[in-house]
Amino acid sequence: MKKWNLNSWTKYPAKHLPAYQDKKELDMVLGKLKKYPPLVFAGETRSLKKSLAQVVDGKAFLLQGGDCAESFAEFHPDNIRDTLKAILQMSLVLTYSAAMPVVKVGRIAGQFSKPRSSPVEKKGDRELPSYLGDNINGMEFTEKARVPDAKRLFRAYSQAASTLNLIRAFSQGGFADLRQVHLWNLGFVNDKTKIKYKEIEDRISDALSFMEACGINPETNRKLRTVNFYTSHEALHLPFEESMTRVDSTTGEYHDTSAHFVWIGDRTRQPDGAHVEFCRGIENPIGIKCGPTLKPEELIKLCNIINPKNEPGKITLISRFGANKVEDYLPKLIKGINKEGLKVIWSCDPMHGNTIKAATGLKTRPFDNVLQEVKNVFAVHQAEGSYAGGLHVEMTGQDVTECTGGAQKISDEDLTNRYRTHCDPRLNASQALELAFLISEEIKKNSKYSKNIIKEAS
Ligand code: PEP
Ligand code: CO
Repeated sequence: MKKWNLNSWTKYPAKHLPAYQDKKELDMVLGKLKKYPPLVFAGETRSLKKSLAQVVDGKAFLLQGGDCAESFAEFHPDNIRDTLKAILQMSLVLTYSAAMPVVKVGRIAGQFSKPRSSPVEKKGDRELPSYLGDNINGMEFTEKARVPDAKRLFRAYSQAASTLNLIRAFSQGGFADLRQVHLWNLGFVNDKTKIKYKEIEDRISDALSFMEACGINPETNRKLRTVNFYTSHEALHLPFEESMTRVDSTTGEYHDTSAHFVWIGDRTRQPDGAHVEFCRGIENPIGIKCGPTLKPEELIKLCNIINPKNEPGKITLISRFGANKVEDYLPKLIKGINKEGLKVIWSCDPMHGNTIKAATGLKTRPFDNVLQEVKNVFAVHQAEGSYAGGLHVEMTGQDVTECTGGAQKISDEDLTNRYRTHCDPRLNASQALELAFLISEEIKKNSKYSKNIIKEAS
């Protein structure tokens, strides 16, 4: 095994890293960040890995969701609260309808840097460097805004820290109490979805009253009044990730303390590239995006590099092919993984393969295609005898109009009404909840076969 150290990644080719003009300033910023407090703690990351091992065994489901790109402009406690509400609602639907514990992970508190399909953006006959995320440059279409500015990393760190602080308060301080399910409602959620959700709310209230009569209540049972909520982002900005990676004093292992879970994007997952080199040395659970260009041999190689001990919960494979490409690509990958006996979570990202340009020129994702990718992925896993154990979505608790369709029937023309994303189009809370209902149906449909997997696994 080749030696790994904090900056061994710098010896490998790295794609999608910002080119800072002022290297001295970058070093000053990184030097300071190295001394800042960790955002998350090694013990929390270990708990997440343990929970993810349950997902590998088919005993739990992974729900990962949040912004495509967090932004300085959208930073507001209400937005954080509403994203959390939407994820808690989705999770409640899955836990209740599919009788599955749900591991909750946000794309939040640090999801800033973006790989872009083109290094330049054109408007009319003007061409500027692309926007790379608020922790690198500005979205404004001006020469000045698009210059990478290392000091933005301080602001991103500070935003991530206060976002996490609020998340911790919400998840531990009473907001996530099961008696408060009615407070998680988001006003604009469509009527049909609302009615279905209300039914679950009522049944949970009944169950809680019954349990209370038996002497089990949220006062005495912590699990009924708190949730474990974890954070994640793409480990794209390697200088930043390196600056946040620390040795855990209790084990001597390296942990990237910028988030509990980090993933490697579809554009930076080269087995001999810098991003893979960095991720193989840290203890955090690692996601790998699997798009149409990924070959089974390459995927197996990646798993062996990142998880040589085949530890369950370490690797989450996030498939993202596009609704009509799932059958062409996913079965080969599953067969390869199964043949090698590799322990992984299979999660489905139904967003990134379904992006299209609407007539208005805005990027969108038709909700029907998102649903279709999920259905196709579940069908393939059922046919291959593997467990579809997770969902990875770009979503928000806000009433945005970024993805077309859904119960609100958002049209191409409606997109401009509330199109607020800094990068890719997100599901709004209504669409996200609708998706959770669909997935709980799929899990229930497959429960007979997943029970078999559980038997085999235990
Ligand atoms: C993302 O999840 O934001 C992303 C860029 O995805 P992918 O790497 O799958 O394209
Ligand atoms: Co995206």
